[in-house]
Amino acid sequence: MSYTRVTLTHSLLDEQRRLGRSGTFTSLMQDIVTACKMISHEVNRGAMAGNLGLAGSENVQGEDQKKLDVLANDIFLRMNALGGNYAAMASEELEDVHVVHGSADGRYLLLFDPLDGSSNTDINISVGSIFSILRLPDGADPGAKGTFLQPGAKQVAAGYALYGSSTMMVLTTGNGVNGFTLDRDVGEFYLTHPDMRVTPDTGEFAINASRSRFWEAPVKRYVDECLAGTDGPRGKDFNMRWVASMVAEVHRILCRGGVFLYPMDAGNKAKGGKLRLMYEANPMAMIVEQAGGLASTGRQRILDIAPGGLHQRVPVMLGSAAEVERLVAYHAEYDGGR
Ligand code: AHG
Ligand code: MN
Ligand code: MN
Repeated sequence: MSYTRVTLTHSLLDEQRRLGRSGTFTSLMQDIVTACKMISHEVNRGAMAGNLGLAGSENVQGEDQKKLDVLANDIFLRMNALGGNYAAMASEELEDVHVVHGSADGRYLLLFDPLDGSSNTDINISVGSIFSILRLPDGADPGAKGTFLQPGAKQVAAGYALYGSSTMMVLTTGNGVNGFTLDRDVGEFYLTHPDMRVTPDTGEFAINASRSRFWEAPVKRYVDECLAGTDGPRGKDFNMRWVASMVAEVHRILCRGGVFLYPMDAGNKAKGGKLRLMYEANPMAMIVEQAGGLASTGRQRILDIAPGGLHQRVPVMLGSAAEVERLVAYHAEYDGGR
């Protein structure tokens, strides 16, 4: 029963008191929560509200925008501007920084992927929203892209909403990871998954295997060894999953372990990979590390990357620590000519 559970608001207030934080942080998280509830509603209504299909436009990445990409972006921009906590925002769907006018007090920067996995909207498969919160450095210009280009280790909070068979919000403010489930009738998120942890070992991996002809040798070696199962060097069978929604893959990993790979390969090398550093890789890396897992490009910790651009892409390998360590070791052996 919901009324015996802690709400997301109470969980944030509790953290605020324990860590001696100002109420600003709780207030700015509330704006994100409201935006995600609205997006959840729109995703859930789907075809009934005419929300499926293409918008007829392209985003800065040259990708066709879905109607829900545009709608989710508008909701995020509007809800998070109203509270006056953010000085500026950056989105997958916007080429440039969006300055929040009239928010002289805004001390934070918000980066987001308003709808992740949007190829799944028309087929009723899980999608999500991803967000990352940075501080506005003293004296910095919120309208300058450079102000946003801070390494992921500087994030003050990160999270995602998962619009799946139930809607969930998974958050970290740097003190572990908590998961909340939306009770639609009450309109509240309740703490259902306290202190989520990624199991160190796993028998499950996720990669888009249709790209295997493009993979680098260390990635190919890792996947081949998993596929060889009990007959191979790993000596055990592995299971494979690919939802094509990073939010859904990361959520599965937080719930039952696993490893997720979107490597740089010969097909996406010119762009640097597929996933975007600032609003996909960084927030997910913070969540996974806060839950005891690891996140790497194969050659560098994601959270240590010095960003070069708002829409920069990076290779991503994250999840159970032992598997990510193995991937990093395979890359090092390969680079060292072994
Ligand atoms: P987005 O919908 O925000 O563009 O992100 C989609 C991303 C990610 O969620 C997913 O893991 C990956 O792209 C799917 O890629 P494939 O189409 O290669 O499967
Ligand atoms: Mn995405
Ligand atoms: Mn997206």
